[in-house]
Amino acid sequence: RKIVHFETIDSTNDYAKKVALQELEGTVIISEEQTKGKGRIGRQWYSKSKEGIWMSIILKPKIVPQKAPFITLIAGASIAKALNNLGIETTIKWPNDIIINNKKIAGILTELSAEIERINYIILGIGINVKTMEFSQEISEIATSLYKEGHKISRVDIVRNILEEFEKLYIKYINEDSKEEILNICRNYSAIIGKDVYLIKGEEKELIRCLDINQEGNLVVQTKDSIIKEIISGEVSIRG
Ligand code: BTN
Repeated sequence: RKIVHFETIDSTNDYAKKVALQELEGTVIISEEQTKGKGRIGRQWYSKSKEGIWMSIILKPKIVPQKAPFITLIAGASIAKALNNLGIETTIKWPNDIIINNKKIAGILTELSAEIERINYIILGIGINVKTMEFSQEISEIATSLYKEGHKISRVDIVRNILEEFEKLYIKYINEDSKEEILNICRNYSAIIGKDVYLIKGEEKELIRCLDINQEGNLVVQTKDSIIKEIISGEVSIRG
């Protein structure tokens, strides 16, 4: 597997996008620091030098674009599983946050380039707070790091474990359309299934009960009026 390493870069996702067409599937872009790390929904992602894992994987799956959102679930499942292999208990906040003690330690930013029938590439961006001890006041309320939670584990071991777990689940999904193991990991590690949470969409905020993650990877919820509906990941966030 090819790994491209930088001391510093604007964003590993942005770099990966630039080289995606000429690089092979599975190429990993990793940087010690990002000067313009990106989070979901146009947010910034703090990516100080050597404090975390900032990496992007270039994927070129031969599947229809409609099946791409599931890749985010595969990433979440493999991060939770990898950390569990290393003795760290986490939960997954659908669709793309990894949580310890109610705070976020990792996030996933999946970017898709596709035609109507086929995918050109997917950039799977993973950010994990490993060593950060001090966050800005605003962020420290919602984010933490592995070191802060008492887990002093090397970044190399974490990366290796994630890539191994990801590859297993990804290959099965692409080649055999096999989703059950992925869904079961997402359900078993879920931070929200069985709980009441707020669904946030722009200015709107709705209290819902999370019931399950279905075969499409969508979140099945029950509204206050007892209506069952499916939430597609897109531009929503969930708050406890
Ligand atoms: C989120 O939770 O909002 C997603 C965070 C994703 C951060 C990673 S770090 C590596 C990759 N490059 C980026 O600019 N963002 C992702």
